Amino acid sequence: MKIDGRSYRTIWPAADGWRVEIIDQTKLPHGFETVVLESEDQAAHAIRSMQVRGAPLIGATGAYGLALALHADPSDAGLAGAYDRLLATRPTAVNLRWALDDVRARVAGLKPAERAAAAYRRAAEICDDDVATCRAIGEHGLAVFRDIWERRGRPDRLNVLTHCNAGWLATVDWGTALAPIYLAHDSGVPVHVWVDETRPRNQGASITAFELGRHGVPHTVIADNVGGHLMQHGLVDVCIVGTDRTTATGDVCNKIGTYLKALAAHDNGVPFYVALPYTTIDWTLTDGIRQIEIEQRDPRELSHITGRTADGRLETVGILPEGSPAANWAFDVTPARYVTGLITERGVCPASREGLAGLYPDRAA
Ligand code: MRU
Repeated sequence: MKIDGRSYRTIWPAADGWRVEIIDQTKLPHGFETVVLESEDQAAHAIRSMQVRGAPLIGATGAYGLALALHADPSDAGLAGAYDRLLATRPTAVNLRWALDDVRARVAGLKPAERAAAAYRRAAEICDDDVATCRAIGEHGLAVFRDIWERRGRPDRLNVLTHCNAGWLATVDWGTALAPIYLAHDSGVPVHVWVDETRPRNQGASITAFELGRHGVPHTVIADNVGGHLMQHGLVDVCIVGTDRTTATGDVCNKIGTYLKALAAHDNGVPFYVALPYTTIDWTLTDGIRQIEIEQRDPRELSHITGRTADGRLETVGILPEGSPAANWAFDVTPARYVTGLITERGVCPASREGLAGLYPDRAA
């Protein structure tokens, strides 16, 4: 995507080798800064601190982190240790495990001296693959949006609601849920996006709004609890979100609050789509609610907010009464029965075992 006339991916190898650059998303929307990662430790920190976030981007960063680790120590013990440490950085998005498994499988049979370069090459391929995959999701999602728009009689505005950030900043480029929005906007479908703020870290208000604004897509940021009201009044034509882990049966785990939007959509007859790449499907799971580990993060993300003051300084302030505890679950599970369809790089399918197996006969168990 373009920022100030320059094309960016969210992660890319630095020209001088064995260094990887990322966009530091903790600085958005107030600053656009890049950071260099030179070690496994720095890659792990970037994931844990959410300098990079979003399931596919976490996977890509993990892959490069493993390559950087092997550059420092290519032994079997080095590989095993780095795999475990990187995997522990964030528990919910399965893309991290997918990417680490993939890189490990490619290098484990090589001589130690050959491992780092092979891992670095593979990380770059994973990134290229993610870009192509997200673009394909965008094309299939565009067909869904166009169909809804046509059936509504081509209104002046197609209102799309999204939660959290599943845009180019959550992937290597394009995004999952936002890719169809970008393609729709670019091809003349008049999308307008209701952007859930997405407390507590505000990925909607800070990152999705930033992305959409830079691309010129009309949007309005709303408080997390507004969506149900808008749906009751016919102001949402379609919901689309991303996912961090999708079971083989079509349950979807995404940012906390997604489930409530799906319930409201169901009650109001609003289509609720989930966009995902194949790397987000966990074929080993059949029950999202009971089997997916839900990340719990620092309650400080809830008890404090950071914003820019009138004179341009960033300031963090507490918002809870002294002594009130807070708890911070980061994801929830939307059962497959509330999902209208899964939009993947291979097409759109029902959120069910049969639906996914039909699109991925080569991967389903
Ligand atoms: O905690 P985050 O910001 O990593 O959560 C991101 C999301 O929940 C996204 O919706 C999800 O990763 C899908 S990204 C294409």
